[in-house]
Amino acid sequence: MIPSKFHVMLQGYRIRPFRPEDLEEVERINRVFLPENYPSYFFIENYRRFPNSFLVAESDDGKVVGYVMCRVESYYARDQTILLGHVLSIAVSKKHRRKGIGKALMEGAERGLKGYGADAVYLEVRVSNEPAIKLYDDLGYKKLGIIPAYYADGEDAYLMYKMLDEEMEEALVEEVLGKRVVRI
Ligand SMILES: CC(C)(COP(=O)(O)OP(=O)(O)OC[C@H]1O[C@@H](n2cnc3c(N)ncnc32)[C@H](O)[C@@H]1OP(=O)(O)O)[C@@H](O)C(=O)NCCC(=O)NCCS
Repeated sequence: MIPSKFHVMLQGYRIRPFRPEDLEEVERINRVFLPENYPSYFFIENYRRFPNSFLVAESDDGKVVGYVMCRVESYYARDQTILLGHVLSIAVSKKHRRKGIGKALMEGAERGLKGYGADAVYLEVRVSNEPAIKLYDDLGYKKLGIIPAYYADGEDAYLMYKMLDEEMEEALVEEVLGKRVVRI
């Protein structure tokens, strides 16, 4: 079998579920590479509730070099309950970037969220964060709009989303998420 680009690029790493003993390293990566930091209990709560969509990337030498943490949120619209996966945080250590880890973490998280019954997945990203926006574009996320001054320093966020369940009406997902954004 000819290995796919995905496999080739991930040589040397594996994606696996977060374990509580990874907490210190995940928090370190979060603090170093993202201005949005969270208390330890927030990581642990998301792990306890949604372990299949909280993943880490581990290098061959056993070091955690990236993570993605998500949760599932429940909304009610037009007499229906809609489950939306929310990517809360993702980061890859600088020297391990551009090897496909971010993409593999996102794809793994999407599988986990689908397993929880999520109809779609969404996230916020700084309007200036070109690498992340490109990654989400590549994965098929669409920009729904802007959340003005979403970040503590006043920067705007794009809200981006991707459908996971083809049975779900996309317009309904846009209706639910659209309340939080200024359309672009
Ligand atoms: C965003 C981030 C997680 C991407 O991780 P990564 O492991 O480097 O991503 P991948 O190697 O899987 O990249 C997949 C694709 O995303 C795009 N991409 C990733 N980094 C990019 C960059 N610096 N410039 C342009 N495109 C980029 C490319 O299309 C890339 O595919 P390619 O390498 O075949 O061209 C990483 O840059 C990071 O941790 N940034 C700091 C934290 C952060 O901003 N998190 C997102 C908050 S919303």
